[in-house]
Amino acid sequence: VTTNKHANGLEYVEVNTDLCKARIFMQGAQIDYFEPVGKKPLLWVSSADDYQPGSGIRGGIPVCWPWFGMNDNPDFPQHGFARTRVWSLESVKMREQQVDLKFTLKLSDEDRQYWPHDTEVELLFTLSDTLSVSLKNTNHGDYDVSLTQALHTYFPISNIHQLKATGFSGAKYIEFGKGPHPQEDDSVSFTRETDRVYTDLSECQALHTPDGIIEVRRENSKSAVLWNPWVEKSERLSRFNSDDYLTMVCLEAANVLEDKITLAPNESHTLTTHIGWK
Ligand code: BG6
Repeated sequence: VTTNKHANGLEYVEVNTDLCKARIFMQGAQIDYFEPVGKKPLLWVSSADDYQPGSGIRGGIPVCWPWFGMNDNPDFPQHGFARTRVWSLESVKMREQQVDLKFTLKLSDEDRQYWPHDTEVELLFTLSDTLSVSLKNTNHGDYDVSLTQALHTYFPISNIHQLKATGFSGAKYIEFGKGPHPQEDDSVSFTRETDRVYTDLSECQALHTPDGIIEVRRENSKSAVLWNPWVEKSERLSRFNSDDYLTMVCLEAANVLEDKITLAPNESHTLTTHIGWK
């Protein structure tokens, strides 16, 4: 495990083991690279991103916390503030078959203007030939706190026209403020902008790509977001090439809408995503 600095000044931790290579930025505790040895990388990043301090990286796994999407206050940043803050690397544990890294975010006075609650937040990475990421919240205040959150994972899928995402039967979704729609098929194909919040979604999904099958599993999460911006929105997105929508999809482990979490004093909750090539 080594620490280094990107050309634009962002600090990162690099992990290189017999099982994987990974890179995690201190800003946002954002992982932008994960490659199991002998397999293709599991995370997508836009080549248009220039890793500027102060803006989240367009790819990898941005952490959306302590709210997902727009806040009721329109002046507050979309997807919360955690993805643009510098986190601290608290511990590194080398085990035989895995490396665990724990990051914490200390709330500044500015953060407290957005979030005046005594919430401890930690992000734990477990790196082996698969990747697990856990977002843990603990309420140290003396009243209940509710929040929404997501691990906004960008997957490399090589060709959106050939992608089939499976594991969706039985769920319902809301798209562009409309819904809820029941999900009829187990699989989803992509032929237009897709921006869905799924609720009551089973724990396991799979992304069938021309390069193989990516398995995605969630814990302590009944909701997930499935997103591809397609042609028009790609033109409007920051740090995104107009043809990037062809090679990425986001499937985000979440606690949103009726799956938002409410923590009583001293209560904790841990949202986890596990991803790997089948
Ligand atoms: C997705 C949302 O999770 O994130 C989309 O569902 C949004 O509506 C996308 O466009 C990207 O958001 P941002 O803030 O990273 O540009």
